[in-house]
Amino acid sequence: MKDAAPTTVYLKDYTPFGFTLESVHLTFDLAPETTRVKSRVLFRPDLSAPGRKFFLHGEQLKLLSAAIDGKPVTPVITPEGLTCQVPDKPFEWTCEVEIAPAKNTALEGLYMSNGMYCTQCEAEGFRKITYYPDRPDVMSTFTVRINGDLPVLLSNGNAEGKGDDWAEWHDPWPKPSYLFALVAGDLVAHPGSFTTCSGREVELNLWVRPGDEGKCAFGMEALKKSMKWDEEVYGREYDLDIFNIVAVDDFNMGAMENKGLNIFNSSAVLASPETSTDMNFERIEAIIAHEYFHNWTGNRITCRDWFQLCLKEGLTVFRDSQFTSDMRSAAVKRIGDVIDLRARQFPEDNGPLAHPVRPESFQEINNFYTATVYEKGAEVIGMLKRLVGDEAYAEALDLYFARHDGQACTIEDWLKVFEDVTGRDLGQFKRWYQQAGTPRLKVEESWEDGTLRLTFTQSTPPSAATPAPLPQVIPVAVGLIGPNGDELRETEVLEMTKATQTFEFSGFPTRPHASILRGFSAPVILERDLSTEERAFFLAHDTDPFCRWEAGRALALDTLNAMALRGAAPDAHYLDGMIAVLRDDALDPAYRALMLGLPGQSELAAAQAEAGHTPDPDAIWTASETLRQTLATRAGDLLPKIYAAAQVDDPYQPDAEQSGKRALAGAVLSLMSRLDGGTTASVQYARADNMTLKLSALACLLRAGKGANDVAAFYEEWRDDRLVIDKWFMLQVAEAPPAKAVETVKTLVQHPDFNWKNPNRFRAVLGAFTGHHAGFHRKDGAGYELLADWLIKLDPVNPQTTARMCSAFQTWRRYDTDRQALIRAQLDRIAATPGLSRDTTEMITRIQG
Ligand code: ARG
Ligand code: ZN
Repeated sequence: MKDAAPTTVYLKDYTPFGFTLESVHLTFDLAPETTRVKSRVLFRPDLSAPGRKFFLHGEQLKLLSAAIDGKPVTPVITPEGLTCQVPDKPFEWTCEVEIAPAKNTALEGLYMSNGMYCTQCEAEGFRKITYYPDRPDVMSTFTVRINGDLPVLLSNGNAEGKGDDWAEWHDPWPKPSYLFALVAGDLVAHPGSFTTCSGREVELNLWVRPGDEGKCAFGMEALKKSMKWDEEVYGREYDLDIFNIVAVDDFNMGAMENKGLNIFNSSAVLASPETSTDMNFERIEAIIAHEYFHNWTGNRITCRDWFQLCLKEGLTVFRDSQFTSDMRSAAVKRIGDVIDLRARQFPEDNGPLAHPVRPESFQEINNFYTATVYEKGAEVIGMLKRLVGDEAYAEALDLYFARHDGQACTIEDWLKVFEDVTGRDLGQFKRWYQQAGTPRLKVEESWEDGTLRLTFTQSTPPSAATPAPLPQVIPVAVGLIGPNGDELRETEVLEMTKATQTFEFSGFPTRPHASILRGFSAPVILERDLSTEERAFFLAHDTDPFCRWEAGRALALDTLNAMALRGAAPDAHYLDGMIAVLRDDALDPAYRALMLGLPGQSELAAAQAEAGHTPDPDAIWTASETLRQTLATRAGDLLPKIYAAAQVDDPYQPDAEQSGKRALAGAVLSLMSRLDGGTTASVQYARADNMTLKLSALACLLRAGKGANDVAAFYEEWRDDRLVIDKWFMLQVAEAPPAKAVETVKTLVQHPDFNWKNPNRFRAVLGAFTGHHAGFHRKDGAGYELLADWLIKLDPVNPQTTARMCSAFQTWRRYDTDRQALIRAQLDRIAATPGLSRDTTEMITRIQG
């Protein structure tokens, strides 16, 4: 069956549905190819909405019967749904449809994964389950009966009853259809419990496939910590008697916050020290928190329409990053978030896919689950908090929950609570939600008669989404430091509102050093002409951990660009600064590890393009390698000492302290391996009792050209563990030399375990490949062709995962004309594919520009 024809939906066209849903009853008779879904819905027309139209969404459904108040009706059916004459008074709608979960490879709606039934309804998947007003502003209480001969039958809310082959669930909280969920299968529970602040006993379960029981403990603890944190920090208590999490292997995204029944990609919840890395543990903790936090920011208060997606996602990402900062190191978390924002959101904001945090139109909403909506959406909330202060933020959030509980809201509602609490006019601030593009913030300094003047100029490049950007409100956190690094003036948040603005700091006998954009106080590109000496000063002395890290980052960027563009030698200030960082035992190991990281090669390409150069991926690769090699040589004997000091003797714990040590040991090992040819890595690999140490050693061995035997042995050891085998695929692609990356991928896709219909496996190979900058951008275009082949192959099976991966092409205009022509040819080839999905069509069309 084909997708509905593409049409564009506009925010400005929003109209309410015109009917209230008093209740929803669903009955599922499960069968892989012939599942029957009966629905009974009480509709009450809103008589004050005269233009109301009874339209129920429905796609790829076989309608078996429909009736109003028990009388059979024959609706008019289109590929998008149905319409029908309905009375001007409350009525009962019943209908029965048939669907085929086993044939649902798109993983949207009701589908099957390893014999288990599972749903994914956000954003518009419920319409593949039954005819329904599948829009977030239509909320109702759901009662669900599942008939099926499977041991575990789950849905939202509280369990009402169950028998051998049936179960009934009732969710007392009105919700939109996108939060509906159903799971049925042969699953085992890892149980837990939580007592809420008001004394409610909540049963917790993490449901997994038999065999995965040993990977549940960490996720369960993370859930309890999240529940407690949300009570303590936001005053939000859980509101049902049971909270279920299910792990599923086939899932397009990370996880989903269905009311009382969160469904997780197994990679985002299952963990054990032997099979998961420290980074996996941290990510799992954050995603569990994220989905749990949605219970209030998303479920109790939801979105009026999908243009408001950032209302729940930006806020929930912001909340989960606060949680991680509290559980671990705030400085390390902040720097990690900035690295991620620059790697994923900046390219979006500065390319053909640029869209505002609150988009104004779309064809396929699934294409807008983006870094802009999520991560920039969270940054916008961080700025709001910085501008109004912590107390006003807390008050505004209390008001938000009190005023809007049970409602489907907009960004206007959200900003209004801040306006009401603070008396501020947030009209200009709202541009952060309305304008696409990353603001450039240029700063110029002058010093005269004891006064330091900082003049800021902001400008945002025009884009198709925002042709004429206006000045935004930019909170610029600034601190002043003296020549020895002493704080002369504590951090102050300057509020920039105009295109150009000057701020003065007076009363200094000697010129202070201005540390600017502390904590990355706004998601902008700071343009500041600093000498290498001045950057080295901040790297050595800045008291703000972000700015200190940023100074090292800027030195690395500058030297790498000079090396790649002009063949310059590695900059001594960078090398000296890094040696000092390496030697500084007083610094948190995790922070030192971050300092040692180089900017990503795609980020370097972006910086070069920004400065008017044409990036050469091979030159960038060579510069990065040379700089690492030079640093390794310079550090020399220092490395084994730091490596030894960073060893963990205690039993494995995935906490911040141990992970930080392992991160530092890993960063140092990768430098050492350039000197000892992998000897130390071999020892680490042989001794390691956890996946973090195994993988960091194996990566070093592969880079040293010595990993072949270990890679083969690794496969034999882990061939039955799908999450570990994903890592095995990924690592080989990521560590392939640029000239071999295409061939590596071509070999791996022949492997019997390359199940390309599984999104995790597809991403492990093709996703890793698009992240291999020099490999993907091979001069002859073989990388582009290879990716396009696979996108064309996957699209009819899974449009969502295909469309997401199209973004690998979004940066195409940065590169030389030959590469541009090669990419354009592949974009044209994809676009010309007969029957291309709505998802992929929209992405390719936007990228083509
Ligand atoms: N709401 C989910 C989350 O952020 C993501 C679901 C995305 N689904 C989709 N089809 N795009 O937690
Ligand atoms: Zn979310």
